[in-house]
Amino acid sequence: MAERKPLMAGNWKMHHTHLEAIQVVQKLSYRLEKQDYDDVEVVVCPAFTALRSVQTTLEGDRIPIGLGAQNCYFETQGAFTGEVSPTMLAKLHVQYVIVGHSERRELFGETDEIVAKKLRAVLAAEMQPIVCVGESLAQREAGETDAFVTSQVHAAFEKLPADKAARCVIAYEPIWAIGTGRNATPDDANATIGVIRSTLRDIVSGTADDMRIVYGGSMKPGNAADLMAMPEIDGGLVGGASLDPDDFARIIRYSR
Ligand code: PGA
Repeated sequence: MAERKPLMAGNWKMHHTHLEAIQVVQKLSYRLEKQDYDDVEVVVCPAFTALRSVQTTLEGDRIPIGLGAQNCYFETQGAFTGEVSPTMLAKLHVQYVIVGHSERRELFGETDEIVAKKLRAVLAAEMQPIVCVGESLAQREAGETDAFVTSQVHAAFEKLPADKAARCVIAYEPIWAIGTGRNATPDDANATIGVIRSTLRDIVSGTADDMRIVYGGSMKPGNAADLMAMPEIDGGLVGGASLDPDDFARIIRYSR
């Protein structure tokens, strides 16, 4: 089994203009040292309007932070007003694309079927999807967490060849923990991620143990070390706390 290098991805959501984004990424780079990058893969996912500016900043200043996008469409080009294609993102040297975030599923009607198409489109453009799954509070309270995330993983990964699955990251993000300040306990997150990994073993056997599964939902400097100490948790998808370069740098440091 290959060692899984932790991934810390900042999901900036609809925050930071391109000017603010440049400043934040520069400040973040001042706070990180070589050991941070050696031990943790650091990625930022700005809004579409800031991708080009952040890309040129990272490349111009030789900052070893990866670039991610928060969404894309599944077609390569065409009459799809307002959409952005995987090809366009790949040309901007985007390496990761978040797919199926719960906000996209809940607010913008993304179904499991759309998520599966996007995942494949991102892979076809030689980028890596960060596929989000996670249950609602009602589902958790009804004891349906495992069955629900298992169904989401099946819908996304069924029939995907193992070599392609190996390039995917999964983010387990309990919806009730996102932006609420209330995180899953390390034990609960670890247990659900264990369920996700054993589901992957059934679908894409051979690679499941090499795939990174990260946690998302109110990850912050105060809980990052405890979450990252769990054997199944391979990193974080960090929303609110990644907007501030000091907080995000601390989370990265605590993940080493
Ligand atoms: P949060 O968001 O860290 O603000 O809870 C995480 C996410 O939605 O990816």
